[in-house]
Amino acid sequence: MSDKLRIGVFGGYRGQTMIDVLLDHPDAELVAVCDKYTPLLSQVREKAEAHGLRVALYESFDEFIKHDMDAVVLANYATEHAIYAVKCLYAGKHVLSEVLPCETVAQAVALIEAVEKTGLVYSYAENYCYMLHTFEMWQRYKKGDIGSATYGEGEYIHDCAGIWPQITYGERDHWRNNLYCTYYCTHSVGPLIAMTGLRPVSVVGFECPPPEEMKRLGAYFGAGIEMVTLENGAIMKSIHGHLKREPGSVNYELYGSKGMMETGRQSANQPFYIYRESEQICRGDWEAYSPELRIAADMAKGFAGHGGSDFYPTHFFIQKILGRPEGMEWSIDVYTAVSMGLCGIFAYRSVLDGNTPQKIPDLRDPAVREAYRYDNKCTNKKIAHGDDLLPRSSYGEVDIPDEVYEHVRRLWIEGKPGE
Ligand SMILES: NC(=O)c1ccc[n+]([C@@H]2O[C@H](COP(=O)([O-])OP(=O)(O)OC[C@H]3O[C@@H](n4cnc5c(N)ncnc54)[C@H](O)[C@@H]3O)[C@@H](O)[C@H]2O)c1
Repeated sequence: MSDKLRIGVFGGYRGQTMIDVLLDHPDAELVAVCDKYTPLLSQVREKAEAHGLRVALYESFDEFIKHDMDAVVLANYATEHAIYAVKCLYAGKHVLSEVLPCETVAQAVALIEAVEKTGLVYSYAENYCYMLHTFEMWQRYKKGDIGSATYGEGEYIHDCAGIWPQITYGERDHWRNNLYCTYYCTHSVGPLIAMTGLRPVSVVGFECPPPEEMKRLGAYFGAGIEMVTLENGAIMKSIHGHLKREPGSVNYELYGSKGMMETGRQSANQPFYIYRESEQICRGDWEAYSPELRIAADMAKGFAGHGGSDFYPTHFFIQKILGRPEGMEWSIDVYTAVSMGLCGIFAYRSVLDGNTPQKIPDLRDPAVREAYRYDNKCTNKKIAHGDDLLPRSSYGEVDIPDEVYEHVRRLWIEGKPGE
C-alpha cells in the first residue's frame, strides 16, 4: 500500500482544481470523489484513468465518508462547509474547506469545537491569500518590511451576472441566489487578516444599490463593504461583489508604520510595489518588480488559475498534515478562517442596523462561545426561523417568480449567458 495521504474531494465543480493538484502531488493520492451531478463524476473517471488511477466515485456523501481515506476536501456549497466539516472531523478525517467557513455564528462555534476535540487538521482554502502578488505581500509583511499595519484595502470586484446561469443552473435554492451583500467577504478581507496575523475586533458594513438585472437572474443583493478594525486599531476596507467593470479587479493595499505595499490589480503585467521609509521621515524608496514563485515552484507553476494561487491551499494542507514547516507556517487555521468569515456575517448585522459598529466575538475563548452557540441568524430558510431569518437585501426582500428560474435554467441548458 502507498504511504501517500489518501484524500477525497466532496463537490466536483470547483473541486476539479483540487482534483488536479492531487492527481499529480507526490505526497497525496486522490482516492474518492463525491458529487450528486453524475456528469462531473464521469469527467473525474476519465481524468483519473488518464493518470493510470482508479478513483472511487460516489453520489451520496453518507457513502463517500465511509471510504478509507485520511482527509477530505470540501468544495460543496459555500453555505454548507461548516456542517460537512464537522461531520468529516468526527469521522476522523482532516479537512480542507473551500470558502466560506460557516453560514452562521453557531456553526463557527461548532466548527472550532470539532477541530479542538478531534485534534485533526482544518485548513481554509482562501486561495486569494496565495495569488502571486498577494503572497509576496504576506511574505514581506512577515519580514517586517513595512512595520506594523495601520490601514489596508482589499478588493474583489467580479460581476457574475453574465455567468449566473452557469453557476446557479436556474435553481431557486442555489446558495448564490440566497446570498446577501457582505457574506462572500473572504477573498477581499481574508488576505489582509492572514498577512497581518491580527484578529478583527469590530466591523461596520454597507450595501451598494443592488443591480436591477440580478432580479431577472434570480438573486437580489448589492456589492458589500466591510470597514474592519483589527486588534491593534488598524482599519481595513474590504469591498466585493457585482460592480461594473470588465475584467473584474482583485487588489490589495497595505500601509504600515514604515511604508506600504500594493498589488497592482494582480494583472500579470503589473508589478508589485513596495515603498519603505528611510531613517528620515517622509523620505524613502520604491521597489517595483514581478514576484516569483518561492515555494514548491516547480509544482505551483502548473496552476495558473486565480492569479497563480490554486495550487497552494491543497499543498499547504498536505504539508500541515505531514507536520512539515511550510504547512505549519502558511496553512490557514480554523481560528483565522472563522475570523475572516465573521467579518461578513457581522457586517450584515451592521447594514441592517443602519451601519452601526458590531463587535466581532473572539471565539478562541470558550467562555465567549456560549452567547453564540445557538446564533443561527442568516438568510437561509433551512437554517434560520422567525426573527433569525434575515432579508437578502437591506433594500427590501423581493418576490422572484418561478418563471425567472425556469428562464435561467433554459439559458444554462442552452449554454447562453445571463441577460
Ligand atoms: N476559491 C475560489 O476561487 C473559488 C472559485 C469558485 C468556487 N469556489 C467555492 O467552491 C465551492 C463550490 O462552488 P462551485 O462553483 O463549484 O459551485 P456549486 O456550489 O454550484 O457546486 C458545488 C458542487 O457540489 C455538489 N454538491 C453539493 N452538495 C452536495 C451533496 N450534498 N451531495 C452531493 N453533491 C453535492 C453539487 O452537485 C455541485 O456540483 C463554493 O464554496 C464556492 O465558494 C471557490
